[in-house]
Amino acid sequence: MSRSGLLFLAALLPVCLSQLAGTNIAEVHPSLTWQKCTGTGGTSCTTQSSTIVLDSNWRWLHQGVSGTTNCYTGNTWDTSICPDGKTCAANCALDGGDYAGTYGITTSGNALTLKFVTVSQQPNIGSRVYLMAPGSSTTYQTFNFNNQEFTFDVDVSQLPCGLNGALYFSQMDADGGVAKSAGANKAGAKYGTGYCDAQCPRDLKFINGVANSQGWVPSPNDTNAGTGLMGTCCPEMDVWEANSISSAYTPHTCTTLGQSTCTGTACSAPNSTQGTCDQAGCDFNSYRMGNTSFFGPGLIVDTKQKITVVTQFVGSPITSIKRFYVQNGKVIPNSMSTIPGVTGNSISDSFCAAQKTAFGDTNTFASKGGMATMSKAASAGMVLVMSIWDDHAADMLWLDAPYPPTKAASSPGVTRGTCSPSSGAPKTVEAASPNAQVVFSNIKFGPLGSTFNAPPS
Ligand SMILES: *[C@@H]1O[C@H](CO)[C@@H](O)[C@H](O)[C@H]1NC(C)=O
Ligand SMILES: *[C@@H]1O[C@H](CO)[C@@H](O)[C@H](O)[C@H]1NC(C)=O
Ligand SMILES: *[C@@H]1O[C@H](CO)[C@@H](O)[C@H](O)[C@H]1NC(C)=O
Repeated sequence: MSRSGLLFLAALLPVCLSQLAGTNIAEVHPSLTWQKCTGTGGTSCTTQSSTIVLDSNWRWLHQGVSGTTNCYTGNTWDTSICPDGKTCAANCALDGGDYAGTYGITTSGNALTLKFVTVSQQPNIGSRVYLMAPGSSTTYQTFNFNNQEFTFDVDVSQLPCGLNGALYFSQMDADGGVAKSAGANKAGAKYGTGYCDAQCPRDLKFINGVANSQGWVPSPNDTNAGTGLMGTCCPEMDVWEANSISSAYTPHTCTTLGQSTCTGTACSAPNSTQGTCDQAGCDFNSYRMGNTSFFGPGLIVDTKQKITVVTQFVGSPITSIKRFYVQNGKVIPNSMSTIPGVTGNSISDSFCAAQKTAFGDTNTFASKGGMATMSKAASAGMVLVMSIWDDHAADMLWLDAPYPPTKAASSPGVTRGTCSPSSGAPKTVEAASPNAQVVFSNIKFGPLGSTFNAPPS
């Protein structure tokens, strides 16, 4: 996250209490095409002309619509401009972004490249973007993936241990929360507002048009982040969380559908039955599920080359989530679980129950609603998120290394990839791999079998 800005005059304060859109830098959403498919085999697809938008948390936040005094610098709020959340929202504006220059975000045709570290006035670390509806600069595209298939290509070859190039769905409001805020959020989807996910993150600077400045604690180990008293929760379907070493796909449910604001224990905790959402989720990571020779550099799914990733959400309501890979014209079904007591190569309620038992984990996926709730969230339409990030909470060990550190690496379910338990510290990866990047391309969506040449079932 990065904030830049010089100091000079402050603009007049607006009369109404609302989170503002700034006018210093024009907000121009980079174009990205994708395809809607019908029929079979990926041959009947029509191109959709969309754009992407940068999340609001990365943006310059300054006093007044055209002012240049920072409301937030590094990881702290200016308490004179932001004495409380509502006043702060009324005083502060999110500005447009220089996508390539400040954030390392570029598009070309159907391809999106997200760079890890970009140095301009200050270093920017990672980014998070959303797909807009075709022809709209104020509404996110939403996906109802009940009984549908979602396919994309990804290049993870430049993503080492500790990094995550993620593509997922979150049940955000399509307008970025404008309608729900009753006039408090004037920036909206055009400025990437309204993020939520199943971690109920508390690092969002605005939730529902109110600044999260109240009780804000700057992170002890992240110069750009902190946490406020409010978190923002919603169901999340992680289609892809990966680097060149490991990958996982993971549904996460919540007891409340749609975006909801939490405080205290309602914001959930890892491996806890408290709270609104299932933070752990029910993941399928081939390495964790026993096949250590399936995914990685030079392996069956070769991460040195571009990979086509196919995800099928089978049934309406969804009963199982299937995965295929395509590389060099060859369809590769997901690896089978080799864990005793856990069968198959797809995610379902029964797979999750068996996996949690085998690994000694609490099944919060089931207690927060399981596949039926994931399916309901999908029915309402979910926003497509793409991001590149490093992990200040757990060094991404949950994806690519033994985790948690309190358990023996040899215990069932603990080792998730070949990365070292001491890898993934943000300071180290930012210094060692500033040029890391992920490329997502060729997104296709449609009924089962419509986006790729599926093998006979
Ligand atoms: C890993 O997956 C591949 C492809 O499905 C399979 O051929 C191989 O036998 C699996 N290896 C193990 C150890 O299960
Ligand atoms: C989750 O909690 C259970 C007890 O409810 C415990 O046995 C297990 O080790 C925990 N898992 C993790 C990953 O912390
Ligand atoms: C970084 O700080 C957060 C608190 O904001 C803490 O939860 C986390 O464990 C810390 N991470 C490391 C690697 O020390």
